[in-house]
Amino acid sequence: MEKEKEMIREVALLFRKEKENILANWLHIIQKNRVLNPQELAICQDGLRKLLEDFIVYLAAGDIAGYLAGNAKIARQIAINDIPYAKFIEMFHFFEDSYSNVLNENIPADNLLAYMSAIDHLHHKTISIVSEEYFKIKDSTVFAMAKLAELKDQETAYHLERTREYSVALAKSLNLDHDFLKSIFQVGPLHDIGKIGIKDKILLKPGKLTPAEYEEMKKHTTIGAEAILSIIGEQKVSRGYLLMAVEIAGSHHEKFDGSGYPLGLKGEDIPLSARIFALADAYDAIVSKRPYKKALTHEEAVKRIREGSGTHFDPEIVGKFLQISDQFQAIYNHYTNHEQKTSGQR
Ligand SMILES: [Fe+2]
Ligand SMILES: [Fe+2]
Repeated sequence: MEKEKEMIREVALLFRKEKENILANWLHIIQKNRVLNPQELAICQDGLRKLLEDFIVYLAAGDIAGYLAGNAKIARQIAINDIPYAKFIEMFHFFEDSYSNVLNENIPADNLLAYMSAIDHLHHKTISIVSEEYFKIKDSTVFAMAKLAELKDQETAYHLERTREYSVALAKSLNLDHDFLKSIFQVGPLHDIGKIGIKDKILLKPGKLTPAEYEEMKKHTTIGAEAILSIIGEQKVSRGYLLMAVEIAGSHHEKFDGSGYPLGLKGEDIPLSARIFALADAYDAIVSKRPYKKALTHEEAVKRIREGSGTHFDPEIVGKFLQISDQFQAIYNHYTNHEQKTSGQR
C-alpha cells in the first residue's frame, strides 16, 4: 500500500512536469472526436483542467482521499450541467490514455507494469466514485421531477416516499437482487409522471369521471412510458433503472387476469417491477384519504389485496405481501406521523 502511494506520488510529479502537454493532448482528442457541443466542450475542458490539477496537488501530497473528494465534486458539477454519462466517462478514458503515454515515456520498462497497475487501481476507484456522485445528482433530479408531477395530482402527501418503500420491502421478500431493489426505489416515484399530460379538468375533477374522461385518464400510463423512453433516447445511455421506469409507468395499471390497462397484459407478460408496484400503489390508495374516498384500515387493505390475488394482483406477490404486511403498516405510520409533525410548518 505504502509502495503504491509512493509510486502515485512520483507519477503526480511527472504529471506536473507534463501538465500542459497532457491538457493539449486531451483537447486534441476531444476536438478530433467532436463528442461535445461548444457549451459542453467548455464545461469539460474546465472540468478536465481541474481534474488534472487535483490529481497533481493531492497525489503529490499522497492525499488519496482529498483527490477522490475533488473528483466527486467535479462529477457533481458535470451532472448538474447535464452532460450525458457516456460523454462524461469518455473523458475519463482519454485521461487514461494520456497517463499511459506519460508513463511509457518516463518510467523504465522493468518498473512500468507496477506503476501502471498502481495508477489503474486509483483510476478505477475514481471512476466508481465519480459515477456514484454523478448518479446521486441525476437521481435527485428524477425524484424532483416526480414530485412536481405529484403537485398537480391529488395524491396524499408522501405517497411517493411510501410506495417506493413498500415496493422495496416486497422486492426484498421476493429475494430480488440489490440492483433491482435500488432501481425500484429510484423509479417507483415516476409511475404517474404521465399525469402531467392529462388535462386539469379531468385530473382534478372532484366527482366521478365519464367513460370518455376515464379513457383520457388511462393515457397517463403511455404518456409517462413514452416520455421516459424519449429521455433514454436523448441521453443515449441505457441505465437499467430507466428501463424499469418505462415498465412501471407503462404497466402499473395492468391486472394479473388481463383486465387492466393500457394493453390488457396478463400474468407474467406484465413486467415484474410493475406487478410489484401495482400492489404497493393499491395498498397506499386504500389506506389513504383521497378527495373521493376516506382512508380505510390496514386490515381492510390486507383483506382487499387478498381478495384481488390472481385477478388484480400476482398471487405469488400477494403471498409475500401477506407475510410482510406489518412492514407496510409500519411504513405508512412512519410517514403519517411525520406528516402530522411537519404540518403547520410552512
Ligand atoms: Fe397511475
Ligand atoms: Fe400512485
